[in-house]
Amino acid sequence: MTLQGKQILLGISGGIAAYKAAELTRLLIKAGASVRVCMTEGACEFITPLTLQALSGHPVHTTLLDPAAEAGMGHIALARWAEHILIAPATADLIARLVAGMADDLLSTLCLASAAPVSLAPAMNQQMWKHPATQQNIQTLQQRDVRILGPDQGAQACGDIGPGRMLEPTALLQAILDFYQPKALPLAGCKILITAGPTREPIDPVRFITNRSSGKMGYAVVEAARDLGAEVTLVSGPVNLTAPKNIQHIAVETAQQMLEACQAAVQHADIFIATAAVADYTPAAVATQKIKKSANEISLALTKTTDILATLSLANPQLFSVGFAAETNDVLTYARSKLERKGLQMVAANLVGEGKAFDQATNALEVVWPGGSTSLPEMDKQQLAHELMKLISARYHTWKQPDGTH
Ligand code: CTP
Repeated sequence: MTLQGKQILLGISGGIAAYKAAELTRLLIKAGASVRVCMTEGACEFITPLTLQALSGHPVHTTLLDPAAEAGMGHIALARWAEHILIAPATADLIARLVAGMADDLLSTLCLASAAPVSLAPAMNQQMWKHPATQQNIQTLQQRDVRILGPDQGAQACGDIGPGRMLEPTALLQAILDFYQPKALPLAGCKILITAGPTREPIDPVRFITNRSSGKMGYAVVEAARDLGAEVTLVSGPVNLTAPKNIQHIAVETAQQMLEACQAAVQHADIFIATAAVADYTPAAVATQKIKKSANEISLALTKTTDILATLSLANPQLFSVGFAAETNDVLTYARSKLERKGLQMVAANLVGEGKAFDQATNALEVVWPGGSTSLPEMDKQQLAHELMKLISARYHTWKQPDGTH
């Protein structure tokens, strides 16, 4: 782990812990960061800018309207340069001034003029820390996404014992390293099987029965699952879409082929999401030659296809199975009955007809599971797929016991 190339602006305000900023500067530089230091007037009473200049390898910035400094790296240039602002120690006074958005000295101005993430290491007397004014200020800063690091408990320079000690430089370094640590993806290590698109049931060599489905929603679900860290196997019927990258793609045509591909792939899956519009019926016999239109009337014998979702779900109780439902009315009632009938953990249902869902860029879903439901309002299919996958991920982790069973 390293801070290689990270441009960190270290702000030091006037407290006894300011001397620890020297060690912090050394640690940040050792971790690979490029460090510029800004000290308040108070800080300069506790430690000299020369020490920080020697450790950081750059002149220390102390005043807002210093012609020499402005001629070099001016305050706006410095605010833009910073990729991260770390203030250690942050006194109660500085914290209050940041809350108020003051810009009457260099450090507060830099914080106001920069869009970089800010981390603060408060350091003050325990009574000052506990004071409602400070506590409220801290809350306000947290709401503005400022990270508050510490403070620590213990003996204080003033003789008091309690919260208010600045975190040690090693702990502050670790907090900055953690900030840049890639966050674990919620579906990392999870294998997901997804069906998408329509199926084609051949009548003769040139004709087939199919369902109306662009596959867009299913493909968006595939991408969302992959982006949350899952290993995805997509079993897709014929669609006019490019297969998403970094997934396993199995192309099929008929419901029977889709069933067989899924039966093989399900052995390794943790989650199964059936978005495909599988044909419910298939011609009982496929004519080997093109059927000529000599007769005025013909009838086609159809047999029911196997319900892939129900078959896989009922045969694999360890599988978290999610079904889709397209309804023209009573969405929630039908979704709940599907949940029970097919032994599912979740059903995502949408209202179709009247220009809704099919071939559209947007969609909305009612999502139900045993004991709960939620609505995902109309939005872009990519965004909707992402919201749905986050929900599936959360429900899956709740459903699965820590020992892998459920
Ligand atoms: N499904 C499947 N295999 C089939 C049929 C459907 O895997 N042979 C899956 C679909 O991918 C979808 C869900 O089951 O996830 C839809 O269920 P389905 O019973 O087809 O819904 P409806 O068409 O609404 O059912 P009904 O005809 O009973 O209204």
